[in-house]
Amino acid sequence: RQLGVGVGGMWERRLSYLRGSMYLEEESNQSEVFSCIFSVKEEVGALAKTLRLFEEKGINLTHIESRPSRSNKEEYEFFINVDSSCSPTLDLIIDGLKSQISGQVHELSRNKQKDTVPWFPNDIQDLDRFANQILSYGSELDSDHPGFTDPVYRSRRKEFADIAYNYRHGQVIPKVEYTAEEKTTWGTVFMELKTLYPTHACREHNRVFPLLEKYCGYRQDNIPQLEEISRFLQSCTGFRLRPVAGLLSSRDFLAGLAFRVFHSTQYIRHASKPMYTPEPDICHELLGHVPLFADPSFAQFSQVRPNTIQCRYAETNVYWFTVEFGLCKQGTEIKAYGAGLLSSFGELQYCLTDKPQLRPFEPAKTSLQKYPITEFQPVYFVAESFEDAKERVRKFAATIPRPFTVRYNAYTQSIEVLDNTQQLRNLAENINNEMGLLCNALKKLE
Ligand SMILES: [Fe+2]
Repeated sequence: RQLGVGVGGMWERRLSYLRGSMYLEEESNQSEVFSCIFSVKEEVGALAKTLRLFEEKGINLTHIESRPSRSNKEEYEFFINVDSSCSPTLDLIIDGLKSQISGQVHELSRNKQKDTVPWFPNDIQDLDRFANQILSYGSELDSDHPGFTDPVYRSRRKEFADIAYNYRHGQVIPKVEYTAEEKTTWGTVFMELKTLYPTHACREHNRVFPLLEKYCGYRQDNIPQLEEISRFLQSCTGFRLRPVAGLLSSRDFLAGLAFRVFHSTQYIRHASKPMYTPEPDICHELLGHVPLFADPSFAQFSQVRPNTIQCRYAETNVYWFTVEFGLCKQGTEIKAYGAGLLSSFGELQYCLTDKPQLRPFEPAKTSLQKYPITEFQPVYFVAESFEDAKERVRKFAATIPRPFTVRYNAYTQSIEVLDNTQQLRNLAENINNEMGLLCNALKKLE
């Protein structure tokens, strides 16, 4: 559709995986066994050495399979099952495998009673794993994609996908030299949307936009670089960007947000249709998402907790109607803050007319709302403010039963599971320190 955000293609696939079973390893593996995959260098005695490790710990392997490694020709991958009565010594085995045999150990399942929550990344580096589990590679286009029959565009898409596929946490995001044609496409989108922002975008977006022009090269004749933006966001809210090679499952995508990492595309839509894209592209990310990730209140609102993602359907719907298509009250007016709106000239105008239905944002109801993905939304949810929306989401998340509570530790960039007294004591101490600072500061203001 012309001017539509058209993230449809991507979301359609994201959702079909979401509603089906993206996490086969978790859902099909109901029995009380521990499975794991590890890789071993192809050399004489390598397997014997590995098996000795299990033997020494008295662990009974119930199943073993091998195959040549797909990522490294010199290695073999082994898939093993161990029966769950061995679980107390499993950590030792995993450590042993990691330190003595192979750097690549992937645990698939363990202790199902406790782990009713599927695997989620513990550490910001774990996000590197997502690169290998994208749903399709960036150069694979649907037959109705405007660039489907354009070999130059397709090979360009492959270049972008390769950059992202090889990217690892902590690296500088490679700079891209955009072609004149790509810059023209960007320029068209940029100028059209810029005319609408003063009247249609929320004040937070309008406040940040000039800063992006000043510090990050947001200009009609320049496509900004992800690395520069990522640095800017880190200085504002700790959010950072990371390039993504293709479609991520919505669970992985949301898990990134738990670490304040936004998976961003780097390619641009096809030049033949500058005002249309069937999937997120750099215009959508940079004009729709980035400005708000620089706002502290919005950044906090977007930081989903990873163990709420188990309630995938609710979580995705809430994400859709807020981060992608949210409206919010500002004074006596209603403005757009969803990235799908802020990056679509057509829908940004439409959403503030009297055509769509507006409802108050209530996560319990919003999470059940169905939505079309290939046309303008018939229903939008209006938040009172980001603060109010955040509070409502927090209360809603508390109604989702979870076996444990987690917290993001920004110092270590890791997720802490608060399931023992030591963790709780650490947290209490942190809060105590912060409270001390608050009281001190308040006293000085008196
Ligand atoms: Fe988006």
